[in-house]
Amino acid sequence: MSKKAPGNTASRTGWPDVVQGLEDYLLYLRDEGVREVEADPEQVRRLSEPPVAPAPAEDATLADGLAGIAERVTACTLCPLHKSRTRTVPGQGSITPEIFFIGEGPGADEDRQGLAFVGRAGQLLTKIIEAMGLTREQVFIGNIVKCRPPGNRTPLPEEMQACLPYLREQIAILKPRVIVGLGATAVKGLLEVETGITRLRGRWMSYEGIDLMPTFHPAYLLRNPAGKREVWEDMKAVLARLGRTPPPRT
Ligand code: URA
Repeated sequence: MSKKAPGNTASRTGWPDVVQGLEDYLLYLRDEGVREVEADPEQVRRLSEPPVAPAPAEDATLADGLAGIAERVTACTLCPLHKSRTRTVPGQGSITPEIFFIGEGPGADEDRQGLAFVGRAGQLLTKIIEAMGLTREQVFIGNIVKCRPPGNRTPLPEEMQACLPYLREQIAILKPRVIVGLGATAVKGLLEVETGITRLRGRWMSYEGIDLMPTFHPAYLLRNPAGKREVWEDMKAVLARLGRTPPPRT
């Protein structure tokens, strides 16, 4: 009798779990009287490879780089937005994200907490990320401007220009495989396009060689829930580009 060995589900950090799981499974089969298993030679070879997580020193460099940007943002007075802010909002998330979600600028909740996308729009963004089979901790979430524009107005071109170097540096450190531009301001800020988001969304663009998917801003979805269907199409395209499939919907 022969049984198929389970596939290698190794992740960046999951290598020891996989090896342990495989050993347990093989011992179970032996106890069941199985004397032979089929195994894909490529899977066996991959099991003998070390985990692919970045070396700790590399992680520390990335974290230091991001912390350095956050420190400079905290002290920033490059544009008038610093005068009315409560806290700066540099952005937060994984230091090795596959996806960087970029919005427009902090709102009242973000300004109070110093964290991006934690208000109502943020809660919807969390649902979108989770529907993609990911967590907020696995991605990076930030904005074009790091201080709240008064009354949540759209940031002015000169405010965006003053703040953009911080975002550019973040992108250069994080090296995401995909950027999701949430709303027209995010896309305009990065690519200086003037086209409206309704025409831009769903079409792949490129920022410094990184795939960029424009989609509707979650705050727009709160006002226009019908747009969620299109956003989901865009997020499925993002997942496909990453070689991922969305989890079954519950
Ligand atoms: N809207 C944004 O564009 N960014 C946030 O962080 C919150 C709301």
